[in-house]
Amino acid sequence: MEFDAAGAARRLMTRLDDFCAFTDEPGKLTRLYLSPSYRAACEAFARLAEAAGMSARIDAIGNVRARYEGAAPHAPALMIGSHIDTVRDAGRYDGNLGALAGIAVVEQFRQRGVRLDHAIEVVAFGDEEGVRFSTAMTGSRALSGSLSASAMESRDRDGVTLAQALTAFGGDPERAYSCRARDVAAFVELHIEQGPVLEAKGLALGVVEAINGATRLLVTVEGLAGHAGCVPMELRRDAVAAAAEMILAVEERARAEVDLVATVGRLEVEPGAINVIPGLARFSLDVRSPRDEWRRRAVSDIHAACIAIAARRKVAAVFLPVHEAPAYACDLRVVAGLDRALAGLGQPAFRLPSGAGHDTMVMGGLAPSGMLFVRCAGGISHNPAEAITGEDCELAVAAMTRFAAEFRA
Ligand code: GLV
Ligand code: MN
Ligand code: MN
Repeated sequence: MEFDAAGAARRLMTRLDDFCAFTDEPGKLTRLYLSPSYRAACEAFARLAEAAGMSARIDAIGNVRARYEGAAPHAPALMIGSHIDTVRDAGRYDGNLGALAGIAVVEQFRQRGVRLDHAIEVVAFGDEEGVRFSTAMTGSRALSGSLSASAMESRDRDGVTLAQALTAFGGDPERAYSCRARDVAAFVELHIEQGPVLEAKGLALGVVEAINGATRLLVTVEGLAGHAGCVPMELRRDAVAAAAEMILAVEERARAEVDLVATVGRLEVEPGAINVIPGLARFSLDVRSPRDEWRRRAVSDIHAACIAIAARRKVAAVFLPVHEAPAYACDLRVVAGLDRALAGLGQPAFRLPSGAGHDTMVMGGLAPSGMLFVRCAGGISHNPAEAITGEDCELAVAAMTRFAAEFRA
């Protein structure tokens, strides 16, 4: 079968640019789960899928699901997709590339009038990033039937619950628990690498062999607010000074172990005035490792270190776990299929792990799952400077199309 990956990649790159218009913050790409711009992106995605010959709908949790039937109706599906929510001030490729690439793959078959032995389901997930609520991967969790009972009570910065936001979006908090997909033979996700390895090796593509596990927590430190001019240093219970010491303990613990990373990405201070000793500090903690036991041990050590710091400084520290995803070893059949697709394109075989979390690790609970990485400039991601080349995009579309064509359910 001859495909036109060059034309498909050109259209895909244009669509990725066009999708930057769906943003909550003009001048930046910020598309938080269930926001009006997220809704607009879902609708545009569904329209593109329908134009590509698929039936498309937005499900009860706010994923877009589109289906290209196989030669026989109701055949098991190869699911292809990624997320279309973004971090704040994001790059345009994280997530959006893999979701829109699913449509590009279907267009390759549709244009040639080809129906495969299996269906192709293209999915655009919501809330992979976990930026708006304290949940993460909510869309793929609902699709794989692993949405936690408490997810709907999670609140955003304005106190809006996930259930309220979902209802306002047009979703359905109750039916969200019945979104589990049926007859999925496998799931495959194309994504930018978000790291520098492929670029350093001079390779456009790499097959992901495993995805690191992650733990996320919110830590609240409670001290005593007071007058910045009147309370002597030794009598203070400064929540921010305590949090600062805890954050350095986080860094020290992570540095002590190869392949373990820990990040404090959010820090809030109350009351937040120049002349007030802070009474409260809240920070987020994200710990990742390829080995679940290393990650769990590090979280436990960090917890113990923070409690000791809190005791010495006479403040309270409360840890709230909000996300836990075990490491995922990609399915060997999917990995081998992607290896073959690369070989068929004359691309060198190369496998690598993923430091970032992906919907694939959740979809692995539903069906055999795997991922293909494409090189990104400087390994930069979660940054508006994120970039890929048109040539690499063409290879990625060609590899995904080959994989889909050769896939056997
Ligand atoms: C998703 O981008 C993650 O935080 O790994
Ligand atoms: Mn992503
Ligand atoms: Mn991301």
